Amino acid sequence: MKEYGHFDDASKEYVITRPDTPWPWINYMGTGDFFSLISNTAGGYCFCKDAKYRRILRYRYNGVPMDAGGRYFYIKDGNTVWNPGWKPCKTALDSYECRHGMGYTRITGEKDGLRAELLFFVPLGQRCELQRVRLTNTGNTAKEIKLYSFVEWCLWNASTDMENFQRNLSTGEVEIEPDAIYHKTEYRERRNHYAFLGVNRRFDGYDTDREAFLGMYNGFDAPRQVLAGTSGNSTAHGWSPVAAQRFDLSIAPGESEELIFVLGYVENRPEAKFSAPGIINKAPAREMMEKFSTGAAFDEAFAALGEWWDGLLGRFRIESAVPELDRTVNIWNQYQCMITYFMSRSASYFESGIGRGMGFRDSNQDLAGIVHMVPDRARARILDIAATQFPDGGCYHQYQPLTKRGNNDIGGGFGDDPLWLIFGTVAYIKETGDFSILDEPVPFDNKPGSEVSLLEHLKISFARVADNPGPHGLPLIGRADWNDCLNLNCFSLDPDESFQTTENVSGGQAESLMIAGLFVAEGRDFAELLEHPAVAAPQEYVQKVRSAVAAMEEAVKHYGWDGEWFLRAYDFYGRKIGSSENEEGKIFIESQGWCAMARIGAEEGLCDKALDSAVKLLECEQGMVLNTPAYSEFIPDYGEISSYPPGYKENAGIFCHNNPWVIIAEAMAGRSEDAWRLYRKISPAFPKDQDLRKVEPYVFCQMVAGRDAARPGEGKNSWLTGTAAWTWKCVSEFILGIKPQYDGLLIEPCIPLKYGSYKVHRRFRDAEYELTIHCTGKSAKEFLPYKPGKHYLEITL
Ligand code: BGC
Ligand code: NOJ
Repeated sequence: MKEYGHFDDASKEYVITRPDTPWPWINYMGTGDFFSLISNTAGGYCFCKDAKYRRILRYRYNGVPMDAGGRYFYIKDGNTVWNPGWKPCKTALDSYECRHGMGYTRITGEKDGLRAELLFFVPLGQRCELQRVRLTNTGNTAKEIKLYSFVEWCLWNASTDMENFQRNLSTGEVEIEPDAIYHKTEYRERRNHYAFLGVNRRFDGYDTDREAFLGMYNGFDAPRQVLAGTSGNSTAHGWSPVAAQRFDLSIAPGESEELIFVLGYVENRPEAKFSAPGIINKAPAREMMEKFSTGAAFDEAFAALGEWWDGLLGRFRIESAVPELDRTVNIWNQYQCMITYFMSRSASYFESGIGRGMGFRDSNQDLAGIVHMVPDRARARILDIAATQFPDGGCYHQYQPLTKRGNNDIGGGFGDDPLWLIFGTVAYIKETGDFSILDEPVPFDNKPGSEVSLLEHLKISFARVADNPGPHGLPLIGRADWNDCLNLNCFSLDPDESFQTTENVSGGQAESLMIAGLFVAEGRDFAELLEHPAVAAPQEYVQKVRSAVAAMEEAVKHYGWDGEWFLRAYDFYGRKIGSSENEEGKIFIESQGWCAMARIGAEEGLCDKALDSAVKLLECEQGMVLNTPAYSEFIPDYGEISSYPPGYKENAGIFCHNNPWVIIAEAMAGRSEDAWRLYRKISPAFPKDQDLRKVEPYVFCQMVAGRDAARPGEGKNSWLTGTAAWTWKCVSEFILGIKPQYDGLLIEPCIPLKYGSYKVHRRFRDAEYELTIHCTGKSAKEFLPYKPGKHYLEITL
């Protein structure tokens, strides 16, 4: 097996030791509204607030070679041209290392006695990416070299940037100063923002026109100016504006040169747009450059970022006998949860940043991964999401982060959506004890004047499902449930329409057992919330909720049990899906997970049976597949699920997001060996064949190809996935057993005995718990009432 890198836990970094990873291994930078994606070869892009509408750097998704474009530094040393991150020139390096850390990336390359260390990060509270280039002469002779910076600007709207060439090849505009290049396309009209690449010294030459810098038929790997050691001093007028700055440096043996670049974004007030006719007001950019013009200021901002991340991650820390578990829990899973919260499903190396904004369902689930770190942000997010709901409880499936307005770009009418608002709100209140959020006025569809309390939103969410049962008393699936691809009311035969947005056949009565389980679990949570003294809802209403839950349980037991497992759905015609009667798709993971988490029929043994069946039929080497057998042909009655070749995505892929549902249910059933084995399988930090898995070994991915695929075990859609929050909930609450409750922490672990002694440091509101836990194999639990202050406790269970 090839080795591509290793974890460095002390510095919370993953160290990549060769640049030709099986797929670009990326990191994210940013904590507020300016974000960067950066690969291990410095590829990627940045944006402010919205990956579609405020894209700063251009990126080519299907580029060849892979991962073309980013922030590149070229070094011309004699006749050799190289990049510290290997790409784009791919000149062989004497040494290479990339360290992805918490919100920063360091790339170090060495060639012919010159070491180049690049450090990239987005400082707290700033709209810029800082880039420090440190060049050290490690040889015995003086070096006369030329260093070039290079970025290519995106003309803001990442979508039209790729399409509307008849316009955008004529709109590009720049301004140039001795130490900065400004990108100001469309600033002359309605935009009040520009971007810039500034540096803390004057450059010796520059280019702002791509063709002048690269040459018409050259790639990024052979810029003609760099090859010649020159600059065109070009000014872009239309076509493709870039920023390429040249520095002629001489470095004595043992000496270093350091340059600090600011890749920034500025918004000006409409009345302060220009400093002279047609000349952009650069004062804010100048201020930003000034702020970071010294090494000391750079170091200080970098240290502050480190402290910020340490503060967040330090709220939950463990010491166990399993290093892979410690690094997942203490570092990477929490980090991924934060990134997923920031990005939702918008910008990654699998999500273009153009098509998918913030999902109603996704963003609610993401909260479970971050609420213990950033409760205030979770609060604000819940209110934003709820404000996109309709008065009848339905919701837009997604909203655009820039405007916070819902849109129908990826459809609407998903049967499960409203229930996730209960899930998110419950998670928030259990963590924070802040019941006041329930009284917040929240509008419908963002319409001023339509406000009702958040609690009312939860009630209509619940009612939306409770009051609209299907023929078997089970929830209607609508366009789909959690599984976006189970499109039972759609029947699309036209390859040019999207399964997600095609008009559904009216009156569709297809029902979902996944939503049934979700409804029972969330309905119970909701009732418990309503009964809490801080809410004290009228008993009559609570009873109504409880009886709706009970009725659903009965419906599931009656119509949703297949004998050995829970059915998945009833289709448009009332036929079973996920039944032993079916030829393919006999069993599905989602309904086993949700109905068993809801403990439906637990006393009659249904949950144990369903879990046994899930393990027996769905488990394979890298986790549990979504359904089995895979659909071998396209079935219009089922929709997108059967559009995927067997083993991929929703058609029998290992969809990691839903694995923790079963793992949690296993833990609830006290089956620790199963829970642990299944958790290990999907967790990236446990040894994996990296060439096969391809994607980053430090984050969970949405999907790993299942056993029916051509290459089982191949990972895809790393980073932005509900897997992050669910595996976090699974490991923190159910395996390690630290469960936030309205009035304290419930300690109820489920971990194999040999790992059963461990320490947990848990910040909970104004309290800190230092726990030493010993599990003895009984399924015991202990409740720790919330009390501010520091508590040292040794707990034997
Ligand atoms: C994917 C789903 C995704 C959906 C919505 C489908 O093609 O398979 O995973 O949620 O698109 O964009
Ligand atoms: C990815 C989507 O983001 C999520 O909302 C959905 O539940 C899964 N795909 C499964 O289809």
